[in-house]
Amino acid sequence: MRTLIVGAGGGIGAALAAALPAGSVTAIGRATDPAIELTDETSIAAAAVRLRACAPFHRIIIATGALTIDGRGPEKRLADLDPAILARAFAINAIGPALVIKHFADLLPRQGRCVFAALSARVGSIGDNRLGGWYSYRASKAALNQIVHTAAIEIAHRRPDAVLLALHPGTVRTGLSAPFTAPDQGFTPAESAARLLATLDAATATGSFLDYDGLAILW
Ligand SMILES: NC(=O)c1ccc[n+]([C@@H]2O[C@H](COP(=O)([O-])OP(=O)(O)OC[C@H]3O[C@@H](n4cnc5c(N)ncnc54)[C@H](OP(=O)(O)O)[C@@H]3O)[C@@H](O)[C@H]2O)c1
Repeated sequence: MRTLIVGAGGGIGAALAAALPAGSVTAIGRATDPAIELTDETSIAAAAVRLRACAPFHRIIIATGALTIDGRGPEKRLADLDPAILARAFAINAIGPALVIKHFADLLPRQGRCVFAALSARVGSIGDNRLGGWYSYRASKAALNQIVHTAAIEIAHRRPDAVLLALHPGTVRTGLSAPFTAPDQGFTPAESAARLLATLDAATATGSFLDYDGLAILW
């Protein structure tokens, strides 16, 4: 069973790759060959063409994302909103993954169970949002969730056994979370990766938004 990870250089992406048998994983990112830059569709399309040689992949995991954008942390209040930062958050967290799904869906096997997952975040849940703040990150992850759910419906026509998922990895000790958490708070990347892989392999309902224990999160 082959696995493709997008976001090789990230804390969780690298841990996912390390948790799987060597030789069964292809991990790509901005510094690999092929390289993938989420804001450049040409790079995504070109990577898909190159990866056809190693396809099919039974697991494809998008482990990219950004919380701090161009040095700016998440907004606390409406007065902090900056259209350029909002647009960049959407470009990295929602539009880029949408284009990865667009170009990489055909790298899944035509028959049999396979999984295409994108790392989202619980704070992208509208139903679970009681604290407010973090406008760009929350909204871009909510958009990602809608894209995953919508793609799940379409991909089911061609690949009825494919499972598309938006996954919350938990609070994980990576560069993304470090400015906002205590040093010992949350999972290590290895702990989160093990839980995410178990969730991926057990999930049955395509188009779901699940946490690291496989529990459904409110949209
Ligand atoms: N850590 C947490 O507590 C936590 C909690 C909830 C959800 N998440 C989600 O989990 C995912 C992974 O987060 P992480 O903690 O592993 O963060 P991380 O260590 O900062 O990794 C982020 C990854 O995204 C890639 N990336 C960012 N912008 C990109 C772009 N424009 N083009 C291509 N790649 C780009 C980075 O590539 P480079 O290596 O090239 O920079 C890196 O591989 C994210 O979606 C995040 O929102 C994390």
